[in-house]
Amino acid sequence: MLSTFKHFIPLPLRIGIKWTGYAIQDIIDPVKTTRVPPRRKTFIGGGDFAAVGDGFFEILKQYGFRPDMTILEAGCGQGRMARPMVDVLTGDYHGFDIDKSGIEWCKTQYADKSNFHFTHANILNALYNPSGLITAKDFAFPYDDNIFDCVFLTSVFTHMFKEDIDNYMAEIKRVLKTDGRALISWYLWEDGLKNPKMDFRFSVDNVSRTTLKQNPEAALAFDLSWVKALYDTYDLAIEAIERGSWSGGPGRMGLQDLIIARHKTNTPELEHKAV
Ligand SMILES: C[S@@+](CC[C@H](N)C(=O)[O-])C[C@H]1O[C@@H](n2cnc3c(N)ncnc32)[C@H](O)[C@@H]1O
Repeated sequence: MLSTFKHFIPLPLRIGIKWTGYAIQDIIDPVKTTRVPPRRKTFIGGGDFAAVGDGFFEILKQYGFRPDMTILEAGCGQGRMARPMVDVLTGDYHGFDIDKSGIEWCKTQYADKSNFHFTHANILNALYNPSGLITAKDFAFPYDDNIFDCVFLTSVFTHMFKEDIDNYMAEIKRVLKTDGRALISWYLWEDGLKNPKMDFRFSVDNVSRTTLKQNPEAALAFDLSWVKALYDTYDLAIEAIERGSWSGGPGRMGLQDLIIARHKTNTPELEHKAV
């Protein structure tokens, strides 16, 4: 019912109403969990900040998390996914993001953790950093080749265009060790999806579509066949695709789909394991 009416309320007004609701909640029931931002200052999406992070950590553990790993999170936001591993990880965690306030928040919150490193990248994005100076398609991740055991991006490629993603995949391949894992969330479009919960009705280019014509970076879905070819181009062998609830899946990542892949070696065993 509410979702039907919300389209008639201008976006800035909707944001204002939401913010006021969060501000009231923050007064009545302030957030007390460490490294969790107040609700009114959270910009990385809805849901329970701590529970979403905890849920993702379970997925990471299932796909081979080890405390001594070196981990990269591209688009780390406000540290939602870093938080659960803070007392477990002995290896290094590196997170970068284009939102300066998120990185400043993380730097303060993780100041006591010398193995957690946060970097701001001033990349342009209409939604998250409209005054950014660098384009994502030209951005080189600020890390050496072949150093990470695991790279993950949650709810990041869902806000980026295809040429930007192409560059990020090349960078992921470059920084990921052979055999390292990449966990990336997407909206994966296929013809014939039954009752999808999101309306990707506007075509952006030949492989992507969006829910909002005037602001495509709000949510982008990509053709599954293009995504699979991209993984292949960058030597990432897809091990599993978990469907999100937007397209009728179990939704361990909420609405979004998740692809788990391994940086290929040339061993026949790994080729065999790939889906
Ligand atoms: C929905 S939030 C998700 C944040 C975090 N990954 C999480 O799940 O909590 C999307 C994040 O992607 C970041 N972002 C958007 N474009 C980016 C880019 N080209 N490179 C790195 N981060 C980007 C935004 O600044 C924002 O923090």
